[in-house]
Amino acid sequence: MSTQAETKRLTAPDIRARKGGTPIVALTSYHAHTARIVDRHCDVILVGDSLGMVMHGLETTVPVTLDMMILQGLAVMRGSRRALVVVDLPFGSYEASREQAFASCARVMKETGCGAVKLEGGRRLAETIAFLVERGVPVMGHVGLTPQAINTIGSFRAQGREEKDWAAIEDDAQAVADAGAFSVVIEAVAEPLAARISAQLRIPTIGIGASAACDGQILVLEDMLGLSPRVPKFVRRYGQLGPSIEAAVEAYANDVRARGFPGPDHVYPMKTKPS
Ligand code: KIV
Repeated sequence: MSTQAETKRLTAPDIRARKGGTPIVALTSYHAHTARIVDRHCDVILVGDSLGMVMHGLETTVPVTLDMMILQGLAVMRGSRRALVVVDLPFGSYEASREQAFASCARVMKETGCGAVKLEGGRRLAETIAFLVERGVPVMGHVGLTPQAINTIGSFRAQGREEKDWAAIEDDAQAVADAGAFSVVIEAVAEPLAARISAQLRIPTIGIGASAACDGQILVLEDMLGLSPRVPKFVRRYGQLGPSIEAAVEAYANDVRARGFPGPDHVYPMKTKPS
């Protein structure tokens, strides 16, 4: 039996069962190589639609397509073995109807082999989430700041910083949980509200800019690695990949210009002496 067959992947019910337990560790990944590393340390890998901004330099996630998500989802599935891989449903692929949402989920799950999908929205998506869950689609919710709504909300700003806004966000989170989501991402929400929602819900909350009171944490990999040029306030940079890539590229360019690369170790010698 191969090692691959012996490693059991985490499932949505495994993550659901972690409510109130050891914090759930999640990161995004869009490639096989980074997925391989992330997989060794994380419980969940999110193939987020942030790939539109991170990989493609888009201003928002709105232009991201289902085909883009499937291509990167497949790469992450190939690179990982143990973590639950969750693929984002991009803007326009699920909001029109429950049937449209199911058709998109079916494509994502069949074509990538991922274990769950994530979609943005609270109360207004509850019926869709219930429809999907009843049909075998594990759904991770996403409330608070929902970047796909950028054109109606106007800017990527923190939510729930005034008490008058709390009820709507709490209601969104509760609706997603009641609809059968196995967990919910809470993005950029004031600390006391995130703590309140985490205490109220029976499913794990996964915070991004939502305090340590959540049942787990997620960050965009390139943000925490120090590769993204600009990052939100809630990001801690655990690496400085940008400057380190810059230094490597500069050294390579200098070597090539000085004919210092390739060196004797990087060429193929002849098997027999040329006549
Ligand atoms: O697309 C993404 O990377 C996300 C995370 C920010 C949670 O949704």
